[in-house]
Amino acid sequence: MIEQDFICTDDFEANGIVKWKSPSNIALVKYWGKKDNQIPQNPSISFTLSKSNTTTSVEFKPKKNNENNILFDFHDIKNHPFGQKIKLFISSIDKYFQFLKNHDLHIKSQNNFPHSSGIASSASSMSCLSSCLVDIESLNSKSKDDSYYIKKKSFIARLGSGSASRSIEGPITLWGSSSSYLGSSDLYAINISDDVNKVFHDYQNSILIIDPGVKKISSSIGHKLMNENPFSNTRFDLARNNISRLKEIFKSGHLDDFINLTESEALMIHSLMLSSNPYFILMKPNTLEVIQRVLEFRRETKLPISFTLDAGSNVHLLYPISVKESIQKFIEADLLKFCKSNTHIHDSLGMGSEKLM
Ligand code: PMV
Repeated sequence: MIEQDFICTDDFEANGIVKWKSPSNIALVKYWGKKDNQIPQNPSISFTLSKSNTTTSVEFKPKKNNENNILFDFHDIKNHPFGQKIKLFISSIDKYFQFLKNHDLHIKSQNNFPHSSGIASSASSMSCLSSCLVDIESLNSKSKDDSYYIKKKSFIARLGSGSASRSIEGPITLWGSSSSYLGSSDLYAINISDDVNKVFHDYQNSILIIDPGVKKISSSIGHKLMNENPFSNTRFDLARNNISRLKEIFKSGHLDDFINLTESEALMIHSLMLSSNPYFILMKPNTLEVIQRVLEFRRETKLPISFTLDAGSNVHLLYPISVKESIQKFIEADLLKFCKSNTHIHDSLGMGSEKLM
């Protein structure tokens, strides 16, 4: 498929409302660095989560006047400042949806995790909004098959936030073209959950909220800095290689290799932040404190727990469901004291975007 396949020129005038719920995800092989128009410099793989969600409804009606009327309410706050970002996003994608030119939209959105938790909400919010817009198209224009609409949802979500493209489906998705996976593409994510050892089917993710503050450097600035980073080409090669390694690990279920790969990916991404110009540090002292304790705990207990990080200070713990009880005890006894207000969120793998209305 090519980008032009996602342009819908079908013209219609209709009233209605659609509502979707979409989850966040956590990358195992990370995306850090992009080319023009959100094309990833390397493929990435993530676990789709189940409990950390955004719910969005979009009410659409034929335009009353020539003005661009988009209302955005966030957690019942009318015309929330986030609306500016949403309006910009919508005007950047209007060539893919003819109906955006002649309809007014009222968008209402909310996250079920605290906005201030530091959990990246762009993956859940952009995948949710994209699901709503593509749903409006599919309800009102010449029908195409489901697989087209799934790809278009991921394609549109990608333009809002790269990682959002991986939240349309689950429990394991790949975004970006890789010689290891047939059908993979730089335009949208694909579901790679088949041929995965059963140990990963119900893998667990505990998110330790170290610092809920707003990051000083946004992901989009971080991605841009990769263009000048002296290690970027080596990083992109290593990431491509890690995609094929992870594919083998998914098949074999070898958890030692899984632990080694996920932790190395997390630390590598942060090492690229340290080696960017200007350099920046998103980890906090308590991020390192938690990581050290996880390493020590694993050495002592031999339990298969690993950590990963997103572009922030929070620590994501990954482990199989068989050791859930021991890990929960460890978190409560040894790690919560390093979390802001003792906050942690327990999540597990999920199936992606879901239609509510
Ligand atoms: O989707 P963005 O632009 O917020 O970037 C995501 C960056 C990481 O979370 C660090 C990695 C990833 O692949 O999700």
